[in-house]
Amino acid sequence: MNDKRQGRKKDKLISDSVNRLSPSGIRKFFDLLQSMDGVISLGVGEPDYATPWHISEAAVRSLEKGYTMYTSNSGMVELREETARYLESTYGVKYEPLGEILMTVGVSEALDLAMRAILNPGDEVIMPDPHYVAYDSCVILAGGEPVKVPTTEENNFEVEPRDIEARITPKTKAILIGYPANPTGAVMHKEKLLAIAEIARRHQVMVVSDEIYARLVYGGEHICFTSIRGMKDNAVLLGGFSKAYAMTGWRIGYAAAPKEIIAAMTKIHQYTIMSAPTMAQVAAIEALKSGESSVLEMVENYNRRRLVIVKGLCDIGLSCFEPKGAFYAFPSIAVTGMTSEEFSEKLLIEEKVAVVPGSAFGECGEGYVRCCYATSLAEIEEALTRMKRFVKKHRK
Ligand SMILES: Cc1ncc(COP(=O)(O)O)c(C=O)c1O
Repeated sequence: MNDKRQGRKKDKLISDSVNRLSPSGIRKFFDLLQSMDGVISLGVGEPDYATPWHISEAAVRSLEKGYTMYTSNSGMVELREETARYLESTYGVKYEPLGEILMTVGVSEALDLAMRAILNPGDEVIMPDPHYVAYDSCVILAGGEPVKVPTTEENNFEVEPRDIEARITPKTKAILIGYPANPTGAVMHKEKLLAIAEIARRHQVMVVSDEIYARLVYGGEHICFTSIRGMKDNAVLLGGFSKAYAMTGWRIGYAAAPKEIIAAMTKIHQYTIMSAPTMAQVAAIEALKSGESSVLEMVENYNRRRLVIVKGLCDIGLSCFEPKGAFYAFPSIAVTGMTSEEFSEKLLIEEKVAVVPGSAFGECGEGYVRCCYATSLAEIEEALTRMKRFVKKHRK
């Protein structure tokens, strides 16, 4: 078969929605990174800590006792109860453990389920740009259309409520926000969240709020979107354990939402996943019951690193707005005149420092790179030394 015919056949083999997805801009760098020695990675967005031992130990004990079966589709009742207790005591928002909470395979699954549960073909979902890499992909896979709202450094990468409202059409089904944000580290002011809630109410569109970084906030208070008056009935809250408790590999998260939405999400979950990993659920119970001091200790350390990296980046000429959440710095690379992909590739090859091109997170990420500071202070300082040399060499 000639190449052209073979290409056409392959195209037909794969669904249109999958063909529409662009390959992850992050993956490419990780593949390159794996093949090199001596690289300092500010690339991967995950804690450098191992899960606190008492959390892992709870899971080990459960394995010893033979807890190795499926759980209820929605997750262990005790975990849903602990999650409800946590949300009420931390953010003052009350969810019914039986019916309004679904335990999932990370926020990743919860996000995918939320989109598949609410979208019909062609429905639009408004989201900030730049945004977490899975946001537009999950919308596309669910048959929807992502509608991007540019955000800028001048506005601290907060999405402007009026810019959201300007993009609402009869096809708008939801607004998808995620604060503290990946890749920028931005948090949202309360007034802006209130304004988004008001817009959602007025136009009768749902809000899906990804709050996986809720605990990683520096010098401020996280506002849970569904704790805003009237929003609990109109929004899906996505939360998880990966970042705050250093549990990325356990694959556990949750969605909290009105009963009909959780029921719809559970329908998909029961056929595709069955139940979140049992030992991860046991570990999550322990995390909620006694993980608080570990969270506070890790957050304090992230904050120390945050201050060092932001100052360091600014000092070497990569201007960087102050991220108030998550564990990312998002400096501008304008002084080098390079695209973010060029910058990241050259920096990796010439100085063995891995960062992620801002363009991987949407058009508005161009001109920036994402530096994850969930790594030791010594590595951050060495990375800054190498980046300083690099910027000096390539400054335009
Ligand atoms: C904003 C955001 N949402 C969701 C996820 C996925 O998290 P999980 O490990 O819970 O699937 C990530 C992971 O990096 C993230 O940054």
